[in-house]
Amino acid sequence: MTREHGSVLWFTGLSGAGKTTTATYMVHKLKEQGRQVELLDGDELRDTICKGLGFSREERLENIKRITYLAKLLSRNGVDVLVSAITPYKEMREHAKAQLPGYVEIYVKCPLHVCEMRDVKGLYAKARSGAISQFTGITDAYDEPSNPDITLCTSTATLEQNGETILAWLGHVSPLEKSTSRRD
Ligand code: ADX
Repeated sequence: MTREHGSVLWFTGLSGAGKTTTATYMVHKLKEQGRQVELLDGDELRDTICKGLGFSREERLENIKRITYLAKLLSRNGVDVLVSAITPYKEMREHAKAQLPGYVEIYVKCPLHVCEMRDVKGLYAKARSGAISQFTGITDAYDEPSNPDITLCTSTATLEQNGETILAWLGHVSPLEKSTSRRD
């Protein structure tokens, strides 16, 4: 029996933009459709298979390479994978795209000042005070995606609206188009 290759919905964006919230919502939506689904969350993985990795450019790259590898194993067995990780550098996203046939880049867009106002984990305050260094958006780069498959705005659209946007995209784009729609 040949199984269809799974999609890899890769949520990239600033800390606090809503990547995990949106990805978790989509896990439920896709499960409702009878899909096999797995969520790979940056924060969780940094406590397990990526434990010990810091936030230098090299360590972040290593983090994303490990996540990409896991996503590859799962998706080639028909599992839809949702990845929630900042994935701040263009180079990382190019790596993931090159490795993953089902790669769908979802830019979870939210202005920095809104993420900072939310400051769910209190990390922006720490970054501003200098208590933590190399913080994405403050003291480390976030290369804005230049040609994502989907852009979601979490400061202006609701979770449900963003979920609909993803479902509509998945429903209307054939697997072939998906793999050839992005050229950057
Ligand atoms: S990535 O850059 O390698 O893609 P990842 O998504 O795994 O990052 O981890 C980011 C999470 O680590 C953030 O959501 C935040 O909770 C935490 N974190 C701790 N220090 C930093 C930092 N310097 N920059 C960004 N996130 C940090």
